[in-house]
Amino acid sequence: MRMVDLIEKKRDGFELSDEEIQFVISGYTAGDIADYQMSAFLMAVYFQDMTENERAALTLAMVDSGDRIDLSAIQGIKVDKHSTGGVGDTTTLVLGPLVAACGVPVAKMSGRGLGHTGGTIDKLEAIEGFHVELTTDEFIQQVNDKKLAVVGQSGNLTPADKKMYALRDVTATVNSIPLIASSIMSKKIAAGADAIVLDVKTGEGAFMKTAEDAEKLAHAMVSIGNATGRKTMAIISDMSQPLGFAIGNALEVKEAIDTLQGKGPEDLTELCLVLGSQMVVLGGKASTLEEARSMLEKAMETGQALQMFKQLIESQGGNSKVVENPELLPQAKVTEQLLSQQEGYISFMEADEIGTAAMVLGAGRAAKDSEIDLAVGIVLHKKVGDFVRKGEALATIHANTEELAECMEMLYNSIEFTKEPVDKPQLISAVIT
Ligand code: URA
Ligand code: CA
Repeated sequence: MRMVDLIEKKRDGFELSDEEIQFVISGYTAGDIADYQMSAFLMAVYFQDMTENERAALTLAMVDSGDRIDLSAIQGIKVDKHSTGGVGDTTTLVLGPLVAACGVPVAKMSGRGLGHTGGTIDKLEAIEGFHVELTTDEFIQQVNDKKLAVVGQSGNLTPADKKMYALRDVTATVNSIPLIASSIMSKKIAAGADAIVLDVKTGEGAFMKTAEDAEKLAHAMVSIGNATGRKTMAIISDMSQPLGFAIGNALEVKEAIDTLQGKGPEDLTELCLVLGSQMVVLGGKASTLEEARSMLEKAMETGQALQMFKQLIESQGGNSKVVENPELLPQAKVTEQLLSQQEGYISFMEADEIGTAAMVLGAGRAAKDSEIDLAVGIVLHKKVGDFVRKGEALATIHANTEELAECMEMLYNSIEFTKEPVDKPQLISAVIT
Protein backbone atom coordinates (compact mmCIF):
# COMPACT_ATOMS: atom_id res chain seq x y z
CA MET A 1 0.00 0.00 0.00
CA ARG A 2 1.20 3.52 -0.71
CA MET A 3 0.05 6.57 1.20
CA VAL A 4 -0.14 8.67 -1.96
CA ASP A 5 -2.74 6.31 -3.44
CA LEU A 6 -4.86 6.49 -0.31
CA ILE A 7 -4.71 10.29 -0.29
CA GLU A 8 -5.85 10.26 -3.91
CA LYS A 9 -8.64 7.80 -3.19
CA LYS A 10 -9.99 9.94 -0.36
CA ARG A 11 -9.48 13.15 -2.34
CA ASP A 12 -11.66 11.71 -5.12
CA GLY A 13 -14.43 10.74 -2.71
CA PHE A 14 -14.06 6.97 -2.55
CA GLU A 15 -14.52 4.91 0.59
CA LEU A 16 -11.39 3.51 2.25
CA SER A 17 -11.36 -0.02 3.61
CA ASP A 18 -10.65 -0.87 7.26
CA GLU A 19 -7.17 -2.13 6.25
CA GLU A 20 -6.39 1.08 4.40
CA ILE A 21 -7.38 3.22 7.36
CA GLN A 22 -5.36 1.00 9.68
CA PHE A 23 -2.36 1.46 7.36
CA VAL A 24 -2.64 5.28 7.49
CA ILE A 25 -2.99 5.47 11.27
CA SER A 26 -0.37 2.92 12.26
CA GLY A 27 2.07 4.29 9.66
CA TYR A 28 1.61 7.83 10.88
CA THR A 29 1.97 6.85 14.55
CA ALA A 30 5.17 4.92 13.80
CA GLY A 31 6.63 7.86 11.89
CA ASP A 32 6.66 6.01 8.55
CA ILE A 33 4.18 8.47 7.07
CA ALA A 34 5.33 12.09 7.06
CA ASP A 35 3.39 15.08 8.34
CA TYR A 36 3.00 16.49 4.80
CA GLN A 37 1.22 13.38 3.57
CA MET A 38 -0.94 13.16 6.68
CA SER A 39 -1.82 16.85 6.27
CA ALA A 40 -3.04 16.21 2.73
CA PHE A 41 -5.00 13.19 3.92
CA LEU A 42 -6.68 15.15 6.73
CA MET A 43 -7.61 17.92 4.31
CA ALA A 44 -9.11 15.34 1.95
CA VAL A 45 -11.20 14.00 4.87
CA TYR A 46 -12.17 17.56 5.75
CA PHE A 47 -13.65 18.08 2.26
CA GLN A 48 -14.88 14.56 1.41
CA ASP A 49 -16.11 13.47 4.86
CA MET A 50 -16.12 9.81 5.89
CA THR A 51 -18.77 7.09 5.76
CA GLU A 52 -20.03 5.52 8.98
CA ASN A 53 -17.84 2.52 8.37
CA GLU A 54 -14.75 4.67 7.81
CA ARG A 55 -15.45 6.63 10.99
CA ALA A 56 -15.68 3.45 13.08
CA ALA A 57 -12.52 2.05 11.48
CA LEU A 58 -10.65 5.31 12.10
CA THR A 59 -11.73 5.29 15.75
CA LEU A 60 -10.59 1.71 16.32
CA ALA A 61 -7.31 2.31 14.47
CA MET A 62 -6.63 5.22 16.83
CA VAL A 63 -7.49 3.04 19.84
CA ASP A 64 -5.07 0.38 18.54
CA SER A 65 -2.27 2.94 18.19
CA GLY A 66 -1.62 2.76 21.94
CA ASP A 67 -2.55 1.12 25.23
CA ARG A 68 -6.04 0.22 26.33
CA ILE A 69 -7.04 0.36 29.97
CA ASP A 70 -8.46 -3.01 30.91
CA LEU A 71 -11.28 -2.47 33.37
CA SER A 72 -12.69 -5.97 33.04
CA ALA A 73 -11.74 -6.69 36.67
CA ILE A 74 -14.32 -4.15 37.77
CA GLN A 75 -17.72 -5.71 38.39
CA GLY A 76 -20.62 -4.11 36.58
CA ILE A 77 -21.06 -1.97 33.49
CA LYS A 78 -18.54 0.86 33.32
CA VAL A 79 -20.32 3.96 32.05
CA ASP A 80 -18.23 6.99 31.13
CA LYS A 81 -19.39 10.53 30.52
CA HIS A 82 -17.79 13.02 28.20
CA SER A 83 -18.53 16.69 27.76
CA THR A 84 -17.26 18.55 24.73
CA GLY A 85 -16.29 21.29 27.13
CA GLY A 86 -17.69 24.51 28.39
CA VAL A 87 -17.33 27.30 30.88
CA GLY A 88 -17.83 26.45 34.53
CA ASP A 89 -18.85 22.89 33.69
CA THR A 90 -18.85 21.29 37.12
CA THR A 91 -20.86 18.21 36.07
CA THR A 92 -18.10 15.58 36.38
CA LEU A 93 -17.46 16.46 40.03
CA VAL A 94 -21.15 16.01 40.76
CA LEU A 95 -21.94 13.05 38.52
CA GLY A 96 -19.18 10.76 39.78
CA PRO A 97 -20.42 10.60 43.41
CA LEU A 98 -24.08 10.94 42.45
CA VAL A 99 -24.12 8.01 40.03
CA ALA A 100 -21.83 5.88 42.21
CA ALA A 101 -24.28 6.41 45.09
CA CYS A 102 -26.88 4.64 42.89
CA GLY A 103 -24.62 1.60 42.52
CA VAL A 104 -23.00 2.28 39.14
CA PRO A 105 -19.20 1.79 39.27
CA VAL A 106 -17.43 4.99 38.20
CA ALA A 107 -13.83 4.58 37.03
CA LYS A 108 -13.02 8.08 35.93
CA MET A 109 -9.89 8.98 34.05
CA SER A 110 -9.61 12.72 33.71
CA GLY A 111 -7.34 15.41 32.43
CA ARG A 112 -5.92 18.74 33.35
CA GLY A 113 -7.39 21.63 31.49
CA LEU A 114 -6.14 24.08 28.98
CA GLY A 115 -8.40 27.11 28.85
CA HIS A 116 -10.82 28.92 31.12
CA THR A 117 -10.41 26.80 34.24
CA GLY A 118 -8.50 23.68 35.08
CA GLY A 119 -9.86 20.22 34.30
CA THR A 120 -11.49 17.85 36.78
CA ILE A 121 -8.08 16.76 38.09
CA ASP A 122 -7.04 20.35 38.83
CA LYS A 123 -10.34 21.02 40.55
CA LEU A 124 -9.99 17.97 42.80
CA GLU A 125 -6.45 19.01 43.67
CA ALA A 126 -7.94 22.14 45.24
CA ILE A 127 -8.74 19.73 48.10
CA GLU A 128 -5.70 19.54 50.40
CA GLY A 129 -3.88 16.22 50.08
CA PHE A 130 -6.00 14.82 47.24
CA HIS A 131 -3.85 12.81 44.86
CA VAL A 132 -4.71 11.34 41.49
CA GLU A 133 -1.68 9.12 40.92
CA LEU A 134 -3.07 5.63 41.39
CA THR A 135 -1.65 2.52 39.76
CA THR A 136 -4.10 0.66 37.55
CA ASP A 137 -4.43 -2.01 40.24
CA GLU A 138 -5.17 0.55 42.95
CA PHE A 139 -7.63 2.27 40.65
CA ILE A 140 -9.53 -0.96 39.95
CA GLN A 141 -9.43 -2.01 43.61
CA GLN A 142 -10.86 1.32 44.74
CA VAL A 143 -13.73 1.17 42.25
CA ASN A 144 -14.55 -2.38 43.34
CA ASP A 145 -14.43 -1.46 47.04
CA LYS A 146 -15.75 2.09 47.01
CA LYS A 147 -17.59 2.39 43.66
CA LEU A 148 -15.69 5.53 42.65
CA ALA A 149 -12.13 6.56 41.77
CA VAL A 150 -10.62 9.39 39.75
CA VAL A 151 -7.17 9.16 38.20
CA GLY A 152 -5.08 11.40 36.00
CA GLN A 153 -4.34 10.25 32.48
CA SER A 154 -1.48 7.82 32.40
CA GLY A 155 -0.08 5.30 30.00
CA ASN A 156 0.21 5.71 26.30
CA LEU A 157 -3.44 6.14 25.30
CA THR A 158 -4.28 6.98 21.66
CA PRO A 159 -0.88 8.38 20.60
CA ALA A 160 -2.28 8.63 17.05
CA ASP A 161 -4.87 11.11 18.28
CA LYS A 162 -2.26 13.23 20.08
CA LYS A 163 -0.10 13.44 16.97
CA MET A 164 -3.01 14.04 14.61
CA TYR A 165 -4.59 16.67 16.85
CA ALA A 166 -1.36 18.67 16.92
CA LEU A 167 -1.16 18.45 13.13
CA ARG A 168 -4.82 19.38 12.66
CA ASP A 169 -4.28 22.41 14.84
CA VAL A 170 -1.77 23.87 12.36
CA THR A 171 -3.39 22.69 9.13
CA ALA A 172 -6.93 24.09 9.62
CA THR A 173 -8.45 20.63 9.92
CA VAL A 174 -9.67 20.63 13.52
CA ASN A 175 -13.22 21.49 12.58
CA SER A 176 -14.23 18.28 10.85
CA ILE A 177 -17.06 16.14 12.25
CA PRO A 178 -15.51 12.72 11.44
CA LEU A 179 -12.14 13.81 12.86
CA ILE A 180 -13.59 15.30 16.06
CA ALA A 181 -15.96 12.38 16.61
CA SER A 182 -13.28 9.70 16.17
CA SER A 183 -10.82 11.67 18.31
CA ILE A 184 -13.23 11.85 21.25
CA MET A 185 -14.59 8.31 20.92
CA SER A 186 -11.14 6.72 20.58
CA LYS A 187 -10.12 8.20 23.94
CA LYS A 188 -13.27 6.94 25.69
CA ILE A 189 -12.89 3.43 24.25
CA ALA A 190 -9.18 3.25 25.09
CA ALA A 191 -10.03 4.29 28.66
CA GLY A 192 -12.16 1.16 29.01
CA ALA A 193 -15.75 2.41 28.79
CA ASP A 194 -18.52 -0.15 28.18
CA ALA A 195 -21.12 2.57 27.67
CA ILE A 196 -20.77 6.27 26.97
CA VAL A 197 -22.96 9.29 27.77
CA LEU A 198 -22.06 12.40 25.78
CA ASP A 199 -22.86 16.00 26.62
CA VAL A 200 -22.41 17.98 23.43
CA LYS A 201 -22.43 21.68 24.17
CA THR A 202 -23.72 24.33 21.85
CA GLY A 203 -23.55 28.14 21.92
CA GLU A 204 -20.96 30.90 22.29
CA GLY A 205 -18.95 29.07 24.94
CA ALA A 206 -18.82 25.79 23.02
CA PHE A 207 -16.77 24.16 20.33
CA MET A 208 -19.93 23.76 18.24
CA LYS A 209 -21.50 27.19 17.96
CA THR A 210 -24.79 26.09 16.34
CA ALA A 211 -27.37 23.50 17.37
CA GLU A 212 -27.17 22.01 13.87
CA ASP A 213 -23.41 21.31 14.10
CA ALA A 214 -23.76 20.03 17.66
CA GLU A 215 -26.43 17.54 16.52
CA LYS A 216 -24.26 16.37 13.64
CA LEU A 217 -21.36 15.74 16.00
CA ALA A 218 -23.63 13.97 18.48
CA HIS A 219 -25.06 11.68 15.79
CA ALA A 220 -21.55 10.93 14.52
CA MET A 221 -20.34 9.90 17.98
CA VAL A 222 -23.44 7.85 18.78
CA SER A 223 -23.10 5.88 15.57
CA ILE A 224 -19.38 5.26 16.17
CA GLY A 225 -20.29 3.99 19.65
CA ASN A 226 -22.95 1.68 18.32
CA ALA A 227 -20.72 0.42 15.49
CA THR A 228 -17.97 -0.44 17.96
CA GLY A 229 -20.20 -2.20 20.50
CA ARG A 230 -20.47 0.54 23.13
CA LYS A 231 -23.95 1.69 24.04
CA THR A 232 -23.78 5.42 23.47
CA MET A 233 -26.20 8.31 23.81
CA ALA A 234 -25.86 12.07 23.64
CA ILE A 235 -27.65 15.17 24.75
CA ILE A 236 -27.26 18.65 23.31
CA SER A 237 -26.99 21.25 26.07
CA ASP A 238 -26.75 25.01 26.15
CA MET A 239 -23.40 26.72 26.59
CA SER A 240 -24.37 30.22 25.52
CA GLN A 241 -23.91 31.24 29.17
CA PRO A 242 -21.76 29.53 31.83
CA LEU A 243 -23.22 26.50 33.58
CA GLY A 244 -24.08 27.06 37.23
CA PHE A 245 -22.71 30.10 39.05
CA ALA A 246 -19.08 29.25 39.81
CA ILE A 247 -16.18 29.45 37.35
CA GLY A 248 -12.89 28.58 39.00
CA ASN A 249 -11.38 25.47 40.53
CA ALA A 250 -11.98 25.62 44.31
CA LEU A 251 -15.15 27.61 43.68
CA GLU A 252 -16.49 24.78 41.52
CA VAL A 253 -15.64 22.19 44.17
CA LYS A 254 -17.82 24.20 46.56
CA GLU A 255 -20.55 24.37 43.93
CA ALA A 256 -20.34 20.59 43.47
CA ILE A 257 -20.71 20.08 47.24
CA ASP A 258 -23.86 22.24 47.22
CA THR A 259 -25.25 20.42 44.19
CA LEU A 260 -24.65 16.97 45.67
CA GLN A 261 -26.95 18.05 48.51
CA GLY A 262 -29.62 19.32 46.14
CA LYS A 263 -28.72 22.94 46.98
CA GLY A 264 -26.91 23.75 43.75
CA PRO A 265 -27.80 26.04 40.83
CA GLU A 266 -30.92 24.97 38.95
CA ASP A 267 -29.26 24.45 35.55
CA LEU A 268 -26.29 22.47 36.87
CA THR A 269 -28.61 20.31 39.00
CA GLU A 270 -30.96 19.59 36.11
CA LEU A 271 -28.11 18.71 33.74
CA CYS A 272 -26.62 16.34 36.32
CA LEU A 273 -29.99 14.66 36.86
CA VAL A 274 -30.54 14.20 33.11
CA LEU A 275 -27.01 12.90 32.39
CA GLY A 276 -27.03 10.87 35.59
CA SER A 277 -30.35 9.20 34.72
CA GLN A 278 -28.92 8.05 31.41
CA MET A 279 -25.82 6.71 33.18
CA VAL A 280 -27.85 4.80 35.76
CA VAL A 281 -30.00 3.21 33.04
CA LEU A 282 -26.97 2.32 30.86
CA GLY A 283 -25.28 0.96 34.00
CA GLY A 284 -28.23 -1.39 34.45
CA LYS A 285 -29.30 -0.05 37.86
CA ALA A 286 -32.71 1.23 36.72
CA SER A 287 -34.97 0.20 33.89
CA THR A 288 -36.46 3.60 33.09
CA LEU A 289 -35.17 7.17 33.13
CA GLU A 290 -37.91 8.13 35.62
CA GLU A 291 -36.84 5.42 38.04
CA ALA A 292 -33.19 6.47 37.65
CA ARG A 293 -34.02 10.11 38.28
CA SER A 294 -35.86 9.39 41.48
CA MET A 295 -32.90 7.28 42.69
CA LEU A 296 -30.58 10.22 42.01
CA GLU A 297 -32.86 12.71 43.73
CA LYS A 298 -33.06 10.42 46.72
CA ALA A 299 -29.25 10.13 46.85
CA MET A 300 -29.12 13.93 47.05
CA GLU A 301 -31.82 14.19 49.71
CA THR A 302 -30.52 11.44 51.97
CA GLY A 303 -26.92 12.65 51.91
CA GLN A 304 -25.68 9.44 50.24
CA ALA A 305 -24.29 11.39 47.26
CA LEU A 306 -22.36 13.74 49.50
CA GLN A 307 -21.15 10.80 51.59
CA MET A 308 -19.83 9.20 48.40
CA PHE A 309 -17.86 12.37 47.60
CA LYS A 310 -16.45 12.36 51.14
CA GLN A 311 -15.40 8.75 50.76
CA LEU A 312 -13.70 9.53 47.43
CA ILE A 313 -11.70 12.32 49.06
CA GLU A 314 -10.66 10.07 51.96
CA SER A 315 -9.73 7.18 49.68
CA GLN A 316 -7.42 9.44 47.70
CA GLY A 317 -5.71 11.11 50.64
CA GLY A 318 -7.63 14.37 50.75
CA ASN A 319 -9.00 16.32 53.67
CA SER A 320 -12.69 15.38 53.61
CA LYS A 321 -13.54 18.07 56.17
CA VAL A 322 -13.92 20.42 53.18
CA VAL A 323 -17.31 18.85 52.63
CA GLU A 324 -18.67 20.36 55.86
CA ASN A 325 -16.28 23.32 55.85
CA PRO A 326 -15.77 24.54 52.27
CA GLU A 327 -13.80 27.49 53.69
CA LEU A 328 -10.93 24.98 54.07
CA LEU A 329 -10.57 25.16 50.27
CA PRO A 330 -7.99 27.65 48.92
CA GLN A 331 -9.32 31.18 49.39
CA ALA A 332 -8.44 34.23 47.29
CA LYS A 333 -7.02 37.30 49.05
CA VAL A 334 -9.56 39.70 47.63
CA THR A 335 -13.26 39.39 46.84
CA GLU A 336 -15.04 42.16 45.07
CA GLN A 337 -18.56 42.52 43.76
CA LEU A 338 -19.30 43.58 40.22
CA LEU A 339 -22.21 45.99 40.46
CA SER A 340 -24.69 46.66 37.69
CA GLN A 341 -24.54 50.15 36.22
CA GLN A 342 -28.00 49.76 34.73
CA GLU A 343 -31.43 48.29 35.32
CA GLY A 344 -33.02 45.65 33.12
CA TYR A 345 -33.27 42.01 32.19
CA ILE A 346 -30.09 40.14 31.32
CA SER A 347 -30.44 39.03 27.70
CA PHE A 348 -26.98 37.57 27.13
CA MET A 349 -23.91 36.53 29.13
CA GLU A 350 -21.24 35.47 26.71
CA ALA A 351 -19.81 32.25 28.12
CA ASP A 352 -16.56 32.46 26.19
CA GLU A 353 -15.76 35.97 27.40
CA ILE A 354 -16.63 35.13 31.00
CA GLY A 355 -14.38 32.08 30.80
CA THR A 356 -11.56 34.25 29.51
CA ALA A 357 -12.14 36.74 32.34
CA ALA A 358 -11.68 33.85 34.80
CA MET A 359 -8.52 32.79 32.98
CA VAL A 360 -7.12 36.32 33.24
CA LEU A 361 -7.37 35.95 37.03
CA GLY A 362 -5.32 32.75 36.79
CA ALA A 363 -8.15 30.18 37.07
CA GLY A 364 -7.08 28.48 33.85
CA ARG A 365 -4.00 27.86 31.76
CA ALA A 366 -3.33 30.04 28.73
CA ALA A 367 -0.52 27.66 27.74
CA LYS A 368 0.23 24.06 28.68
CA ASP A 369 2.87 24.95 31.26
CA SER A 370 1.16 28.00 32.82
CA GLU A 371 0.59 28.01 36.56
CA ILE A 372 -2.97 27.77 37.72
CA ASP A 373 -4.37 29.54 40.80
CA LEU A 374 -6.88 27.16 42.37
CA ALA A 375 -8.45 29.83 44.62
CA VAL A 376 -9.50 32.44 42.08
CA GLY A 377 -12.50 32.79 39.82
CA ILE A 378 -15.95 34.23 39.38
CA VAL A 379 -19.24 33.51 41.11
CA LEU A 380 -22.21 34.79 39.15
CA HIS A 381 -25.27 36.01 41.04
CA LYS A 382 -27.43 36.51 37.97
CA LYS A 383 -28.08 34.56 34.79
CA VAL A 384 -29.87 35.21 31.50
CA GLY A 385 -33.53 36.08 32.10
CA ASP A 386 -32.95 37.60 35.55
CA PHE A 387 -33.96 41.17 36.34
CA VAL A 388 -31.28 43.41 37.86
CA ARG A 389 -31.57 46.77 39.56
CA LYS A 390 -28.88 49.45 39.22
CA GLY A 391 -26.22 48.89 41.89
CA GLU A 392 -27.16 45.23 42.41
CA ALA A 393 -24.35 42.66 42.40
CA LEU A 394 -24.00 40.70 39.17
CA ALA A 395 -21.06 38.60 40.33
CA THR A 396 -18.32 38.28 42.94
CA ILE A 397 -14.73 38.12 41.75
CA HIS A 398 -12.21 36.14 43.80
CA ALA A 399 -8.72 37.42 42.96
CA ASN A 400 -5.10 37.27 44.07
CA THR A 401 -3.54 39.69 41.58
CA GLU A 402 -3.96 43.11 40.07
CA GLU A 403 -5.76 41.55 37.09
CA LEU A 404 -8.94 42.18 39.09
CA ALA A 405 -9.81 45.42 37.26
CA GLU A 406 -9.26 43.88 33.83
CA CYS A 407 -11.40 40.90 34.76
CA MET A 408 -14.23 43.12 36.00
CA GLU A 409 -14.25 45.10 32.80
CA MET A 410 -14.27 41.99 30.61
CA LEU A 411 -17.02 40.47 32.69
CA TYR A 412 -19.20 43.57 32.54
CA ASN A 413 -18.71 43.85 28.79
CA SER A 414 -19.81 40.26 28.32
CA ILE A 415 -23.25 40.98 29.77
CA GLU A 416 -26.10 42.49 27.75
CA PHE A 417 -29.30 44.02 29.15
CA THR A 418 -32.76 44.76 27.72
CA LYS A 419 -35.86 46.51 29.03
CA GLU A 420 -38.15 43.64 27.96
CA PRO A 421 -38.40 40.35 29.85
CA VAL A 422 -36.30 37.58 28.29
CA ASP A 423 -36.79 33.81 28.36
CA LYS A 424 -34.10 31.66 29.93
CA PRO A 425 -32.23 29.65 27.29
CA GLN A 426 -33.41 26.07 26.88
CA LEU A 427 -30.92 23.90 28.79
CA ILE A 428 -31.31 20.66 26.85
CA SER A 429 -32.39 20.89 23.24
CA ALA A 430 -32.10 17.28 22.07
CA VAL A 431 -31.52 13.73 23.23
CA ILE A 432 -29.88 11.47 20.66
CA THR A 433 -29.78 7.71 20.99
N1 URA B 1 -11.82 17.43 21.36
C1 URA B 1 -11.14 16.31 21.08
O1 URA B 1 -10.84 15.52 21.97
N2 URA B 1 -10.81 16.05 19.79
C2 URA B 1 -11.13 16.89 18.79
O2 URA B 1 -10.81 16.60 17.65
C3 URA B 1 -11.82 18.07 19.10
C4 URA B 1 -12.16 18.32 20.41
CA1 CA C 1 -20.16 26.04 37.41
